[in-house]
Amino acid sequence: MSDYPTRKLIIAIDGPAGAGKSTIASRLARKLGYQNLESGAMYRALALKAVENDISFDDEAALSDLAHKSRIKIEPTLGGNRVLLDGRDVTQRVRDADVSQAASRVSVHPQVREWMVARQRELGTSGGVVMEGRDIGTKVFPDAEVKVFLDADPVIREQRRIQQQVSKGASAESLAAELRERDRRDRTRANSPLAPAHDATVIDSTALTEDEVLRTVEALVEKKLQPNAPPKRNAG
Ligand code: DC
Repeated sequence: MSDYPTRKLIIAIDGPAGAGKSTIASRLARKLGYQNLESGAMYRALALKAVENDISFDDEAALSDLAHKSRIKIEPTLGGNRVLLDGRDVTQRVRDADVSQAASRVSVHPQVREWMVARQRELGTSGGVVMEGRDIGTKVFPDAEVKVFLDADPVIREQRRIQQQVSKGASAESLAAELRERDRRDRTRANSPLAPAHDATVIDSTALTEDEVLRTVEALVEKKLQPNAPPKRNAG
């Protein structure tokens, strides 16, 4: 589909956990030859560091200080994003349930978000990136050419998450409760709460296959790649 390879777009995919963002973002990025950057992995890496250093998830100043002293790297690979924390590979560990909750908790703090948003902008500024998260279309790249808000019925999202994670030994009930708790916090926090950007295309994936969602997003991208599509974002 990339008939117009010279334009390098920023594609923002936001939505709650379990809506299918990661799968769609990585498949789309592979097709376009773009980088796929999971912003949530950065919050997870910082949360892990807080866990390891016994820093309270409520201590904004200490968390911000920790962030400034951290090197968090997201390396896109064919098999997904590799997450490096101060040079250490923490890709698997950051997916554990305790780190998921901690990531949601550290992400409520404005000073933490400010640091994250600045890093994420550095990563995506030259385009050619599919970035997924909660605030990419609203805050990190409000001028992204393509903005998708991917949602799904909570019960379906819980089922998907249970299928992915239950093999790790967690119970279905605890996974569902964890997802509900995180959802509530991510949607109700004062700073950059999870919500669709006013110009995002909302896709409800409840009754759609992965391929159907991907085709819908691809159609949005194709439209923006037309030679006569008006540029939305300032170059560079
Ligand atoms: O996408 P994820 O489930 O890996 O994200 C983990 C947590 O990080 C999520 O519960 C809220 C936070 N997060 C955020 O606040 N903003 C983002 N852009 C991405 C994630």
